[in-house]
Amino acid sequence: MLNKFGICDLLGIEYPIIQGGMAWLGTAELVSAVSNAGGLGTIGSGDAPTEWLRQQIRETRERTDRPFAVNLMMMSPYLAENLNLLIEDKVDIIAFGGGNPGQYLAALKESGIKTMPVVSSVALARRLERLGADVIIAEGQESGGHVGETSTMALVPQVAEAVKVPVIAAGGIADGRGMVAALALGAQGVQMGTRFICSEECVAHPRFKQQILEAGDRSTVVTGVSTGHPVRCLQNKLTYRFTELEKAGAPIGELEELGRGRLSLGVMQGDLEQGSLMAGQIAGLIKDIKPVKTIIRDIMAEAEQVMASINGYRKG
Ligand SMILES: Cc1cc2nc3c(=O)[nH]c(=O)nc-3n(C[C@H](O)[C@H](O)[C@H](O)COP(=O)(O)O)c2cc1C
Repeated sequence: MLNKFGICDLLGIEYPIIQGGMAWLGTAELVSAVSNAGGLGTIGSGDAPTEWLRQQIRETRERTDRPFAVNLMMMSPYLAENLNLLIEDKVDIIAFGGGNPGQYLAALKESGIKTMPVVSSVALARRLERLGADVIIAEGQESGGHVGETSTMALVPQVAEAVKVPVIAAGGIADGRGMVAALALGAQGVQMGTRFICSEECVAHPRFKQQILEAGDRSTVVTGVSTGHPVRCLQNKLTYRFTELEKAGAPIGELEELGRGRLSLGVMQGDLEQGSLMAGQIAGLIKDIKPVKTIIRDIMAEAEQVMASINGYRKG
């Protein structure tokens, strides 16, 4: 049975499915729906101020009494304040994205908070395990948002080989087949972002959700490599402009200025051409908007079927 993984006991969840923290979109509505459905919801604090995070934690607790996580972005100007809030507020689990949270892990262990850094390399996974991470989320370059360079297929088994703590696979997973593949690679569970955007509970603008439904396998592009912060988004006028400027060797300051405020413009206000539409390569597989509970139920059911059908391929 797929729900009998150690990771489920460790995180206090029923199914090994995590909704990845997403800036703007990981709000109490989505987070509580995922946790209530037996997965682990994650508040995406992005670069939001501490008061916003406090309010989201309060609302999430009003909607669920199950565990949930908070994702902190290492680039956030409010990182220190947000971290203090999470320690004072005794949240269950903190996920870290966009950098190396090594310096904070020991203190969080002391406070009894579990930590799940997102990594895109074996070296960082090893280092963070040594410093006390409870779970490692290995995120491949297929994923939506900030990305590394290695694919999920190549990264997950190498991270699973390198660390003893449970590994979660992220990037390019949206159904039961992807889940079984991740388990076969040595992960104990999956983290998904793009699939959960196309849920009824996600607060994303309907035009952005529709754009994911219409995407194909080659609809996304990575921009920002020259700034040191590569990001995967659906292609649009903004990504074309960004790519042109990068090719022309535009200074980092000009590129950063162009990117400012674009995520909310795209995902919340639904500006499909001038906004940033962060989404992963798996967008091409997503063809419907469903309640979170149905998404999780369908993935678990399909994963069980896939396991059985793989056994069926054997002769005799
Ligand atoms: C719109 C969007 C915003 C995201 N914001 C964050 C973030 O703030 N912090 C983070 O660690 N990861 C962020 N991610 C990555 C997700 O948490 C997740 O790991 C990723 O979406 C998994 O890949 P998938 O999109 O192929 O499922 C974001 C992804 C998307 C699509």
